[in-house]
Amino acid sequence: MERALLLLPTTTYRTQAFLDAAGALGVEIVCASERPNVFEERAPDRLLTLDFDDPDAAAEGVRRFAETSRIDAVVGVDDRTTVVAAAIAERLGLPANPVGAAAAARNKLEMRRRLAAAGVPVPRFEPVSLDDDPAPVARARTYPCVLKPLALSASRGVIRADTPTEFVAAVERIARILAGAGDTSRTLLAEEFVPGAEVALEGLLVGGALQTLALFDKPDPLDGPFFEETIYVTPSRLPAAVQAELATVTARAAAALGLREGPVHAELRVGPGGPRVIEVAARSIGGLCSRALRFGAGMTLEELILRHALGRKIESYERERRPAGVMMLPIPRAGRLRAVTGVEAARAVPGIEEIVITTHRGQELVPLPEGWQYLGFVFARAQTPEAVEQALRAAHARLGVEIV
Ligand SMILES: Nc1ncnc2c1ncn2[C@@H]1O[C@H](COP(=O)(O)OP(=O)(O)O)[C@@H](O)[C@H]1O
Ligand SMILES: [Mg+2]
Repeated sequence: MERALLLLPTTTYRTQAFLDAAGALGVEIVCASERPNVFEERAPDRLLTLDFDDPDAAAEGVRRFAETSRIDAVVGVDDRTTVVAAAIAERLGLPANPVGAAAAARNKLEMRRRLAAAGVPVPRFEPVSLDDDPAPVARARTYPCVLKPLALSASRGVIRADTPTEFVAAVERIARILAGAGDTSRTLLAEEFVPGAEVALEGLLVGGALQTLALFDKPDPLDGPFFEETIYVTPSRLPAAVQAELATVTARAAAALGLREGPVHAELRVGPGGPRVIEVAARSIGGLCSRALRFGAGMTLEELILRHALGRKIESYERERRPAGVMMLPIPRAGRLRAVTGVEAARAVPGIEEIVITTHRGQELVPLPEGWQYLGFVFARAQTPEAVEQALRAAHARLGVEIV
């Protein structure tokens, strides 16, 4: 039986989807996490503890482990594990992204530099040091602009500033967010705010070639000051020529970063001057959103990723025909969750397939820009992308959130 190593941070939403995929493919799984699992002693050949922040040590740990327990594939399930996954794969001699490419995709400044150097369209950008006085930097800038940390995700710490005063306030707020997240970086990224529609491209790199798996429209405006992700709908309603251009630009961006194997999740904006890359991450879509996707004869995204990592043949990258979408339910304000109401009524909306509330009663909720979690996820399928979007909006309107 083939064995795959899954790198599963304790806080990830992605565990179940990958375990289900392994089950469906008949693959044995070795689970690695950054904290020791209480069952580790009872299943030493199935559970591992690795320091995800020390790729070299983690790679060495897995190499030793693999001397007695063969490993055929390594999959990092989300942002926190892309670099360590590349380092482990390299040490085991498995095909994967070069470590430097995975690292560049995890650092928004390095990513911008590589993309700009390769002529891939990106917003104008500049690093901002937390050790400098932000006031003169703020006065010298053009507005509107976006400030962001180099290595967080889920829009955490991403803030639009329209004036020098807002710029200074944003720098200070992001510095506090970094401190709270235990991130010691002293550099932020400031970049031009790119107006226009935003899309997400879900793809799979196979031997350096990008297969587009799905292109999602994000029909809610993302104009700031914080960038709360909500609705994703596929297929995109953009003209076919624009969609083709988005795929081409994403492939060029992945190549410029040096990414070659495995999933990519890219975000682009279609502004007046054509597409511009917001980011390309060497991972699959976050949260539970992948449930909106099915391929070929009902395969999940995680099955595709595992198959590719194992070097198995993939019959089809074709997404099912039916339009589909997901709404990430945002956290409306800070406090303790008392109840989410109206779930049954929301589930009854035609087109709604599933509602998953991922927060629990009594949980401390933190909205953007400090927080990174979602209240839950709503999934819909319908005849048209418009109908999917409408179903998601109608379901959301029936939900109530009681926060104390
Ligand atoms: N330069 C920009 N112009 C316009 N919107 C931006 C820009 N940078 C980020 N955003 C918005 O903020 C969101 C999150 O930023 P991103 O760089 O993707 O960070 P994260 O890794 O947290 O997702 C994007 O999806 C987009 O909506
Ligand atoms: Mg992003």
